[in-house]
Order: sequence, then structure tokens, then C-alpha cells
Amino acid sequence: MSASHPHDRWIVLKFGGTSVSRRHRWDTIGKLAKKRAEEHQARVVIVVSALSGVTNELTAIADGAADSAQRIAALEARHREFLAELELDAEAVLGERLAALRALGSDPRAGSRALDWQAEVLGQGELLSSTIGAAYLAGQGLEIGWCDARQWLSALAIPNQSAWSQRLSVSCDAQGSEELRAAFSQQPTRVLISQGFIARHADGGTAILGRGGSDTSAAYFGALLKARRVEIWTDVPGMFSANPREVPDARLLTRLDYFEAQEIATTGAKVLHPRSIKPCRDASVPMAILDTERPELPGTSIDGSVEPVPGVKAISRRNGIVLVSMEGIGMWQQVGFLADVFALFKKHGLSVDLIGSAETNVTVSLDPSENLVNTDVLAALSADLSEICRVKVIAPCAAITLVGRGMRSLLHKLSDVWATFGKERVHMISQSSNDLNLTFVIDEADADGLLPILHGELIDSGAMPVEDDTVFGPRWREINGAVRPRATPWWQVQRSRLLELAQAGTPRYVYHLPTVRERARALAAIAPIDQRYYAIKANSHPMLLRTLVEEGFGLECVSYGELQRVFEAVPELSPRRVLFTPSFAPRAEYEAAFGLGVTVTLDNVEALQRWPEVFRGRTLWLRVDLGHGDGHHEKVNTGGKASKFGLSAARVDEFVAAARALDITLTGLHAHLGSGVEAEGHWRLMCDELAGFARRIGTIEIIDIGGGLPIPYHADDEPFDLDAWAKGLEEVKAVHPAFRLAIEPGRYLVAEAGVLLAAATQVIEKDGIRRVGLDAGMNALIRPALYDAWHDIANLSRLEEQDTASFDVVGPICESSDVFGRRRKLPATTAPGDVMLISDAGAYGYSMASTYNQRDLPKEEVLDV
Ligand code: LLP
Repeated sequence: MSASHPHDRWIVLKFGGTSVSRRHRWDTIGKLAKKRAEEHQARVVIVVSALSGVTNELTAIADGAADSAQRIAALEARHREFLAELELDAEAVLGERLAALRALGSDPRAGSRALDWQAEVLGQGELLSSTIGAAYLAGQGLEIGWCDARQWLSALAIPNQSAWSQRLSVSCDAQGSEELRAAFSQQPTRVLISQGFIARHADGGTAILGRGGSDTSAAYFGALLKARRVEIWTDVPGMFSANPREVPDARLLTRLDYFEAQEIATTGAKVLHPRSIKPCRDASVPMAILDTERPELPGTSIDGSVEPVPGVKAISRRNGIVLVSMEGIGMWQQVGFLADVFALFKKHGLSVDLIGSAETNVTVSLDPSENLVNTDVLAALSADLSEICRVKVIAPCAAITLVGRGMRSLLHKLSDVWATFGKERVHMISQSSNDLNLTFVIDEADADGLLPILHGELIDSGAMPVEDDTVFGPRWREINGAVRPRATPWWQVQRSRLLELAQAGTPRYVYHLPTVRERARALAAIAPIDQRYYAIKANSHPMLLRTLVEEGFGLECVSYGELQRVFEAVPELSPRRVLFTPSFAPRAEYEAAFGLGVTVTLDNVEALQRWPEVFRGRTLWLRVDLGHGDGHHEKVNTGGKASKFGLSAARVDEFVAAARALDITLTGLHAHLGSGVEAEGHWRLMCDELAGFARRIGTIEIIDIGGGLPIPYHADDEPFDLDAWAKGLEEVKAVHPAFRLAIEPGRYLVAEAGVLLAAATQVIEKDGIRRVGLDAGMNALIRPALYDAWHDIANLSRLEEQDTASFDVVGPICESSDVFGRRRKLPATTAPGDVMLISDAGAYGYSMASTYNQRDLPKEEVLDV
């Protein structure tokens, strides 16, 4: 061993309170230290916190608690008990240290609570825990030495700092010197253990690092020693793309650069103290956050050599934010107005977080984790400020922050996020000048439940590039084993048949009837629904239509062409099982539909006024717009003022009067407010609202709540919870038992039953991007180009190979949007001639295909095995 070698490379391992309070955790610490030393031919410094809860007790003692003597006795007992658990001789290991603790209780400085005495008291926890650790690990056969952090970390004297800060909230010199490194390496053992939280004061006594102390100590050690890396061992797997307790779909962030990590640590994640990043960043020492209980997980690595991946990495929420809005007349003309305002914040010891300004208003936010913002301080500040402007304090607020590189270049992908915030009262929007964060401040109460929605929107829009596995790891739910395993998709089982079909020509859609039946039966089992229709616009292949009719579904059509298709495919179908729900259709289509005897739905008064003879004496359903909509993309939202669909709720009475005048009987009330809606409460609300109108109309027998059920296109999408949906409908139906209930889904029944097979034509590299071209393009499947929709893509010819390389998957159409997916992982050997499969393409695939660029329509095939 090269104990005295001046160029030894160190690895710093830091363990927090929970990691040092249990015997089995110390076994892990010992194993990890040994493993690191061996794996990396390195030497190891272990930096530890006090046993959990000990620092709080010491703080009470340092604050002069009346029962300090009892507290000291309890601390002593606690440590003795732990030594017993570790089967160590308490007296031999800790006798001196416990005596020092007792002596501090009766120290003459205790009366005045001198700052140097307080620092010594506070530092006892780490001195005790590190001494215990050294004894226990040595007993386990590890060659380990104890070192006093105060010998190596020296507090910096910062001008203008209060005496309190200079003693109890210090920063340290992180530069070090070759001499210091050489001296440190002189210590004889390969592994050393030291303390977090404490450093040496200029007077030789103890100083305290303050908040985040132990993480920061480890970072200082890392920087001083120019360590290989600093590992922060905690009881969570690392940093996540959102707080996993609020967003179980949050992804582990496996790799970040220092700046992003700093921003995430500052705006929310509690796993790493933000102060600890700078020392490592300045010294270019990589950091890692790892889970002591699950050391096999990748954790979060933070370093400077990361190729920056643009995109949102995390979304966080801070509560208890106070906004101070200051209104002054013509303030920009007033020289020094801002200086006067900020001087008052300084006077009250408040550091400002966000700033927004307008011609006559400046609004700032105060973050409670940085400030003591109690009502007294705010009242005093307001009183002072009101001398120079009108003041309004808005609290409690929540600051919701998106963090990631290149926020400004992502704005076009954030439209859904903006729309979601648009539903709340946004007090302030602030974009950081380092282009790393975008923050929205709203009322705290409005923020509840918002994070999972926003997180989902960031993924769906591609703003959070979760498919990039250099940055994004597994989901929290997966790590905790709370993911329901998905069934193997049918197309994997049918692979060889599909490869054969591809030989007969591509591009080709293939539909799997057993999957269609399975979905149909799942919907048929939902008791509160009385009538089911299939929206054939999703896929009108005759065999699918016949299959669904056999399963008891009626068919919903939106054009005369669809009606013709239905009666060609299923000639024996009773017209009573067919709905006609057109939008802006010509008169002739209504006439033809009545001629066929199908149920016609109308959604405007104007048609009754213009063509009274077409509708006189008929039975009709009425489609209304309930004033709100939803959906997987704004282009499929079919409710609200901006949508062309449905009769405005404000004109229902007018419609009913016009219909009566024409002797029309209204028997059904219908709404379809969007497609791919994930909120299962959506239909329950519709049902309730429609029932309200139905009562008013008087003749309504059936309520049709449309389609719109989503499917999980992306691994991050949860499968739709049919049970919860059914329960909601049951409850609402119990309230309105007078009406029969109908649905008319399209996608849910057929999307997962269809795949698009295409052949790879070329693989081309250009400026670092590798593209695989297919013989199918946006003319064959337009959803990615039109809605930025996600479809999984697989190389069916090489299914057994690992997906290790990144490709953009494109088509042959002369449009830049002819892209099926970007940065998709596929086998590195992907080559022309391979059969590629685009999954979940059974809905709105072939039915939206075109011959653009004079390319043929895809072929279609149906499997019933
Ligand atoms: N009922 C009516 C009146 C509709 O307009 C639609 C779909 C449905 C039912 C069936 O909706 P589904 O259950 O499939 O969500 N091309 C888009 C979807 C447009 C949906 C149009 N209307 C896409 O590929 O996502």
C-alpha cells in the first residue's frame, strides 16, 4: 500500500444520520469502502453525520434548553445503547468523548452561550458517530484510521459576516495545496473516517458548516483532495424528475451536469444540499448520489463532462412562497427606486428569490427556506415599503419550476404546460437568466394535484426527453416494484407470421382480432353502460366492423361514406344500431341517413331553420358542447368555444323550441369532448351535466357520453383504469336512473390491435444523427406528424438483439414532419431490408392515410389467431 504517496487518489463517501444509526448499515459502509478501494485502486475517506436526531438534541442544548443536563444524559445513554448493539466496549471506545460531552454541559461558557461553546456542543454528534464507526469497522477487520475534520477543513473569514455566521454557518477553503494533499496522504491507513458538519475556526476552535453540513463537508474534502469522486449515500435512489411522493411516475435522473443539479437541488429536491455542489464543480470532482439500501441502483451522477442534453429534467414545487407586490406611479422615471426598495429587503434580512417588473410594479418572491418570513418581519417590511410605494403581500403561494438546459428553445413544446397554468391564477412567471429554469408562482391551494399532470404533459410533448437513457433512469414506481407488468404485446407472439406478411409487401397494416374482442368484452362488462357503439372513423376495416357487431356493438358514423361502408360490411345490421353524427354535413347526407333509417344526431339550430323539411316530424339526438374539452392534443379537443362541434349550451332552449315547432322528437343527448382523455372523471362529469339538460328537455331517453378513452402508447402512460371509470359512471347513473347510458369509443377498441409493418430502405448518418428510413411515411401513419404522437417502434427482424443505438425513424415523404420518432433506441445493426414495426397503429392509422407524393396506400391484413 502506498500510504505516503503524495498523489494518492481519494474517493469520498458520505453517509447521513439514518445510514450511521443501524448496525447493518455500518456493515454496508464497511463493504462499500472496501469495494471502492479495491475497484478503483483508491483510498477512501468516509464522512459521517451524527446518529439521527442527535444534532437536534445538541441544538437544543446549545440554545440553552432548561433541561440540558437530562438531554446530555439521554444522549449518553443513546450512544451507549448503540455501542451495546454493535458489541463494542462503551468505555474503551467512547469514554473520553462522553466525558467531553458532559464537561461541555458544565462549561463556564454555557451560561452566556458563547458562540465557540455552541460550536463545540453542536460538533459532538459527528465526533461521537465517527469514533463509533472507526471502532466498529476496525473490529470487522477493516484497516481504518480516524481523522479530525478540523485538522483539514478551515473556515474562511468572510468580511462583513456576523460573528454568528463566522462561527456557526461557515464556508471553507476548498482550494487546498499540494502540501495539504501530501500531508493528508501521509496518514497510514488506506481508509479514513472523518466528520461532516465541523471545521476549524481561525482561532483553532470548532466552527460549524450550517445547513447541509455533511454533504458540504464531503464536497470540501473532495475538492481539497482533488478526489476521483464524491459519493453521497442517502436513503433515496438519487434525484428524480419530480418529487416521487407526489409524482410516482417521476424518473430517476441518472446523469446531470453541475449546473442542472444545482438548480434542481435549489428548487426542490432535498437529497443533496445545493451548497455542496460548487466546491466539487470548481475542482471538477464528479459527484454521485446513491442509495445505501439499494446500492445496485445507478443513482445520480453529477459531473462536468456531460454532453448537454437539451430538455426539461425536473419539475419541482416549493410551498410557502410569499410574494410582495410593490406598486409605484411612474417608478422607472424615479432614479434609485429599485435601490430604495431592495435596501429595505436587506434591512429586514430578506433575500429575494424571483423578480418580475412592469412599468409601475415590481413583484418579488421570498422563499421560506432562505428566509425567516414570519408575520412580524412581513409587517415591518410592509410598513417601511409603504413609505415609498403601495404594497400587497400575497401568500401562501407555490413556486412551480421547470429545470433544464435551454429552456428558451423549448418554449414551443410547452404549450400544454402553459395551457394547464392558464387554468390557474398565475401571479408571476420568471425565467432565469442562465436559461436553466422557468418558474410559475400560483396560489398554494391551486398547486395540489398539478405536478403529476404537468409531468405527464412534459413527457407527452417531448419537452422532457425521457427516452434519452443517458439522463433518465427508471420510474419511481418501477424501482419500488409498483408497476403492473404489461402483457407481452400480441405482435411479439405473432412475430414470424408478421415477418412472412411483410415479405408479401410493405407498408402493411396488420390487425389482430383477438385483441379487438378482448377490448370489446372489457367494455361490455361495464354494467352502468346500456348501449355501446364503435366509432368507425378509427378503423373501418370490414372485418373489424363485423367483429365488433358480433360483440354487441352498434356503429357510429360521421359521413355518408362511412354509412355505406357499414352496410356493405355488415348488410344484415339493423339501422337502429347505427348512429350518424356528422359535422357540417351537406343536406343530402342528412336526407340519405334518414332514408337508411339510422339515428341522426344534429348539433345546430341553423340546419333546422334552413332545411325544416328535412327534419320535420323526425326523431333526433342532439349533440351539445358542454363548454369544456380535453384530449391528448389540442387538435383533438372537441369541446369549448374554439371547437366547431356541438350546440352551444346557451342555445339548447332555442333548439328545443325550434324542434318542437317542427314536430321533432328529441330522444338522445350526446356529447364527445375530446379524444385520448386521461382524466377518468371526465365522463362522469359529462354524464352529470348531460342529465341536467336531459331533464330540462323532457323527452330524452338516452345519454351518449362519446368516446375518447385513452390507451397507453408510451411505457410511461398508465393503462386506463376501467374499474375506476366504471365506478364513477355507476355512481353518477345512480343519481340519474331515468336515462340509459351510451358510449362510442374508437381508439380504445382497435388501437392496440394494429401494427404498421414497413421495410427499412436506407440507414444514413448526417452530422451526428443516424436515421433509418422506412418505405412507409406520414402518408401511411400521420399521427406523429400531426399530433407529435408517440408510437413505439421495433426492429422486428432483430427483436432478440439489444436496442443500443439511437436513430431517428423517418419516411420517404418530402416534408420535414415525416418523422415517426426521434432518438429511438434500436439494434445498432439495423440495416436496409429489416422489417420495422410501428405499434398501436390500429386506430387512426389506415383511416387517415393518403396517397400524398403519389405513394400507394398501405396494404391491410387481419389475423384471427
Ligand atoms: N365520437 C365522436 C363524435 C367522435 O368525433 C370521435 C372521434 C369518437 C367518438 C371516438 O373517439 P375515440 O374514442 O377514438 O377517442 N385522429 C385523432 C383522433 C380524432 C378523433 C375524432 N373523433 C387521433 O389519431 O388521435
